[in-house]
Amino acid sequence: MTKRINLDTKQDTIDLAHFIAPLLGPGSVVTLAGELGSGKTFFVKALGAFLGIQEEIDSPSFVLFKEYHCGRYPLYHLDLYRIKHEDELLDLGLLDMLESGITVIEWPEIAKDFLPYRTLELNFGFDGDQRYVSIEPEDKLREFFP
Ligand SMILES: Nc1ncnc2c1ncn2[C@@H]1O[C@H](COP(=O)(O)OP(=O)(O)OP(=O)(O)O)[C@@H](O)[C@H]1O
Ligand SMILES: [Mg+2]
Repeated sequence: MTKRINLDTKQDTIDLAHFIAPLLGPGSVVTLAGELGSGKTFFVKALGAFLGIQEEIDSPSFVLFKEYHCGRYPLYHLDLYRIKHEDELLDLGLLDMLESGITVIEWPEIAKDFLPYRTLELNFGFDGDQRYVSIEPEDKLREFFP
C-alpha cells in the first residue's frame, strides 16, 4: 500500500518537510525519487531550514553531494543522477555519511543495496498537472508515522 499526498502548492511541500524533519536524526536516510523538476531539491531546501541549516541549499546535481554542518545534525544531500557504478558511491564516502548524519538522496536507485531497511522513501511525481508525493510501503511508514 502507498500513502499518497497531493502537493498543490509549494507550501504543501514545505509542510511535508516540516512534518518529516523532527522524525530524522543521525543515521536517518530519506530517498527522493521522481522525474526531473518534480520537487526533490525543493523539498530538501525546506527540510534543511527545519533542521536549522541557515545556509542556502542548492542542487548537488553537478557536484554529486553537498554537506551541511551548521544545523542540528550533519545533512548530506546527494544527487546520484550521474553515477553509473556502485564503486563510485563508495569513493564518495556514502557509507560514512549514512552513519554520521541525515542523508537525503535524489535519484537513489543505484544506491539501494547500501541503504538501511528503515529508509524513508518519497516518490515525487505528476498526475497530469497534479503534483504529488507517495510514500511506501505502508508498513514502513507506520514506523515513522505511528
Ligand atoms: N508544490 C510544489 N512543490 C515543489 N516544487 C514546486 C511546487 N510547485 C512549483 N514548484 C517548483 O518546481 C520546481 C521543482 O524543482 P526541483 O529542483 O525541486 O526538482 P527536482 O525534482 O530536484 O529535479 P531534478 O531531478 O532535476 O533534480 C522548483 O522550481 C519549484 O519552485
Ligand atoms: Mg534536484
